[in-house]
Amino acid sequence: MGAIAFLSYLLGSVPFGLVLTALSGEGDIRKVGSGNIGATNVLRTGRKDLAAATLALDAVKGAVAVAIAWVMTPPDMGAQAMCVAAVFAVLGHCFPLWLGFKGGKGVATGLGAVMALSWPAGLAGCAVWLLGAKLTRISSAGALLAFAVMPLVLMALSGFSFSASPKPLAGVLIAVLIFVRHHANIARLLNGTEPRIGK
Ligand code: G3P
Repeated sequence: MGAIAFLSYLLGSVPFGLVLTALSGEGDIRKVGSGNIGATNVLRTGRKDLAAATLALDAVKGAVAVAIAWVMTPPDMGAQAMCVAAVFAVLGHCFPLWLGFKGGKGVATGLGAVMALSWPAGLAGCAVWLLGAKLTRISSAGALLAFAVMPLVLMALSGFSFSASPKPLAGVLIAVLIFVRHHANIARLLNGTEPRIGK
């Protein structure tokens, strides 16, 4: 299980937003907008293509970490391994070794990881995220709503029992990480200064 956690952390820690913007001549994304390395901030460079690629690659690394864990472990340990992989991939994105543990906010990686853990919960999260962001025009609001809903969906799918499956606990841990990483966004949402998408 330790190897899966370490591998997932390493995979999650690949900072695609930072790499793509640097390679495309957009400079250091940490010096733009919110300073975050995620797709929302990449969009603030005006490069929709880079933002879409960052979103996709950050989500894929979360899903791939879970898939690798599933392949690497025997069936009786599969669910636990997938959950460990999901949490550690998000941890890697949020606290990457390469960037002095100052990484992103985990939204795309968390969505990809939860999608691989449980596609109904992942789809519900994506729907809430897109709808929340569309209605509020605030990316963080959509993300926070999505990660509030996904653990509830995972719990409902497990019959509201933490002993039936480790997935609800993984969903809660990922949500806690995402809310912690959004502490500055939450403060801005509360005082009405959180920027709208594209601003
Ligand atoms: O995906 C991160 C998003 O929820 C907030 O990003 O750059 O507005 O802090 P940002």
